[in-house]
Amino acid sequence: SPNGRWSGRFSEPVDELVKRFTASVLFDRRLALFDIQGSLAHARMLSEVGLLAASDLAAIEAGMARIREEIESDRFPWSVDLEDVHMNIERRLTELIGEAGKRLHTARSRNDQVATDVRLWLRDAIDQIQARVRALRIALLDLAEQHTETIMPGFTHLQVAQPVSFAHHLMAYQEMFARDQARLADCRRRVNRLPLGAAALAGTTYPIRRERVAELLGFEGLCENSLDAVSDRDFAIEFTACASLVMMHLSRLSEELILWMSPRFDFIRLADRFCTGSSIMPQKKNPDVPELVRGKTGRVYGHLMGLLTLMKAQPLAYNKDNQEDKEPLFDTVDTLLDALTLFADMMGAITVNTQAMRQAAREGYATATDLADYLVKKGVPFRDAHEAVARAVRHAEAKGCDLADLPLEELRQFSPVIDADVFAVLTLEGSLAARNHLGGTAPAAVRAAIARARATLGA
Ligand code: ARG
Repeated sequence: SPNGRWSGRFSEPVDELVKRFTASVLFDRRLALFDIQGSLAHARMLSEVGLLAASDLAAIEAGMARIREEIESDRFPWSVDLEDVHMNIERRLTELIGEAGKRLHTARSRNDQVATDVRLWLRDAIDQIQARVRALRIALLDLAEQHTETIMPGFTHLQVAQPVSFAHHLMAYQEMFARDQARLADCRRRVNRLPLGAAALAGTTYPIRRERVAELLGFEGLCENSLDAVSDRDFAIEFTACASLVMMHLSRLSEELILWMSPRFDFIRLADRFCTGSSIMPQKKNPDVPELVRGKTGRVYGHLMGLLTLMKAQPLAYNKDNQEDKEPLFDTVDTLLDALTLFADMMGAITVNTQAMRQAAREGYATATDLADYLVKKGVPFRDAHEAVARAVRHAEAKGCDLADLPLEELRQFSPVIDADVFAVLTLEGSLAARNHLGGTAPAAVRAAIARARATLGA
C-alpha cells in the first residue's frame, strides 16, 4: 500500500503531519493488554460459532502470547505509521503467524474494538481506585479511633463555632469517601458492558454470539444498540464526574491540612516526607502534597469539562473525535491513584497537637450555644436565651476572658436562672458529651460511628 495504513482506495500517501496528527499510538498503547484480551475473546467466539478454524485460533493465541511478552518487556516494535494500538497489534500478529492473523478482524471494527478496550481498561482502573479509597478510609478510621476525646473547634465561616472532636471531623471525610465508593461502584456497572458485535455501526452479517464474548470478558451485559455501542462515551464522562467528586473531597481536606499546619493554627504536623523546603527561607516546611492535590483537582475538573464538550455535538455513530477521550481519562486515573495513595499514607503519619486544638476551642466562645441550651432547659424561650448569651459573650470579650472564666455572680446578671451547675455545661467536655445521638460529636456516638464504618468495610 502507498502509505503503510491503507490500500488501493488512496492515490497518494497520507501527509506526514496528518499521519502524526491522526495517530494515537503514542498514548493508546496503554490499552494494549486489554486490546489483546478483547481480541482473544472475540477469536474464541468466532471459532465456537465456526467462523474460525481451531488451528487459526491456536495460532492467534500463541501469537498474542508472544506479543504480550514483547510489550511487557518493552521490545514491541511500535510504529506511528500504523496509527493506533489496534493496528499495531494486528499487523504484528500477522507478521508472526501469517494468514490466521488476517482473519482475526472478521465481524469486528476498530469502532467496537476501541470502545471495548477503553471499557476493560477503565473497569480495571476503577477497581484500583476503589482499593485506594478503601485504604484511605481505613487510615482515617485508624486516626479517628485515637482522637474521640481530642477536642478542637468546629468552624462555620472559618470562625470558631462549637467544639467537636478531631475524630468527628475526620469521620465527616470518611463518610464523603464512602459515598465516593458507592458512586464508583454504581458507575462500574455501566462501564462493565460489551460493545463488541456492533462492528462499525450497524452490526454484522456473521452469526456472532455477543453474549458469549461478554461472558468471556466478565462483562455484566451488552451495549445493545449497535449505533449506541460504538458512539457512547457517557461511561467515561460519568467516571470523570465521580473522579471529580473524589478530588473535590481530597481538595477540601487538603485545604484544611494546609490551614492546620500553618503556625497560626499549629494543629497538626505532616511527616517530613510529605513536605518540601524553601530554596531561600531556611525555616520553611511547606505542605506541597496537599497543595498539589488541591491544584490537580482543577485539572480533573478540566478533563470532565473536556469530555462533556467532546461529545456534545457528535452525530451518531462513531467519529474520530472519540479518539480524544483517552488522554483525559488516563490522566484522570493517574492523578486520582497518586493522590489517593499519598493521602492514605499521609493521614496515617499525622502528628496531632491536642493542646493547640483545645486552646483554640477555648478561645472562641465555642460553648455559647451550650449556655443558651442550658437557659432553655430552665424555661427561658430560645430567642431570649440567645440574646442573653450574646450579651454575656460581649461582656466576656470586653474582659478578655472565656464564658467559663466569669464568676457566677457576673453570669447571673444576664439571666437569674443561672446556677453553679452552669459550669459543667460551659466546659468543652460537657459540650461534646451532651451531643450523644446518632451522628453527634459525643465520644460514645463517634466510637459507634467508627465501629459501623469498620463493619461495612470489613476492617
Ligand atoms: N484510534 C481510534 C480511536 O481511538 C480507533 C477507532 C478508529 N476507527 C475509525 N473508524 N477511524 O477512536
